[in-house]
Amino acid sequence: MHQEHHHCSHGRLFPAEAAARLDEPTRKSRQPPETLIGLLDLFSGAKVLDFGAGTGFFAVPIAQHLRKLGANGKVWAVDSQPAMFDHLRAKLAGLDLAPIETLVGSTDELLQMEAGNIDRVLLANVLHEVPDRPKLYAALAHILAPQGLVLIVDWHPEGSTDHGPPKEHRLDPKSVGESLSQSGFNRIEISPCFSDHYSVRAIRS
Ligand SMILES: C[S@@+](CC[C@H](N)C(=O)[O-])C[C@H]1O[C@@H](n2cnc3c(N)ncnc32)[C@H](O)[C@@H]1O
Repeated sequence: MHQEHHHCSHGRLFPAEAAARLDEPTRKSRQPPETLIGLLDLFSGAKVLDFGAGTGFFAVPIAQHLRKLGANGKVWAVDSQPAMFDHLRAKLAGLDLAPIETLVGSTDELLQMEAGNIDRVLLANVLHEVPDRPKLYAALAHILAPQGLVLIVDWHPEGSTDHGPPKEHRLDPKSVGESLSQSGFNRIEISPCFSDHYSVRAIRS
């Protein structure tokens, strides 16, 4: 997915011009959204924030699932590249889904959100692109309610590089878990995910 990094500011940002690759037809079998919907442990009325939501490959099915669970769920899709949201919005016509609020921004915008208002946070294929991770973990702790859940899914350093970022950009799941435990999270669970990813789940203390 990430072959052309050279023109980006810090070298790891997935380029918005390549957004179509996030919705290429085989991806649903390689990274089934249902897998992450299961790991997110959603409930009726849940408030879910998808950080680095991109074109909504996961945010849209999550919003559809929330709608099936009940009337009051909501999704916040956050991304630093507004062009990603053009692709997201283009998918919504005719779908029955919970509201998706798009928010252009990053860690600083999370820190400006109401404290403790979010039940579930997803970061899919994005953590390795974020330069200041300690500040991001603090922002996740800020937005999540006590007992809220964060789910980080990212490319495993030992996984195949046929897709995804080069090995040297990939993060070790154990160090991700340790950072979360130092940032106000407990019950850290690390598992393999998809064929080349890991998941780290943690609960806001
Ligand atoms: C590889 S794409 C993944 C998109 C989506 N999560 C998915 O799995 O289809 C990474 C996305 O994260 C966004 N992103 C990267 N760093 C970010 C940051 N620091 N703050 C907000 N968004 C960021 C990029 O703009 C891009 O849309």
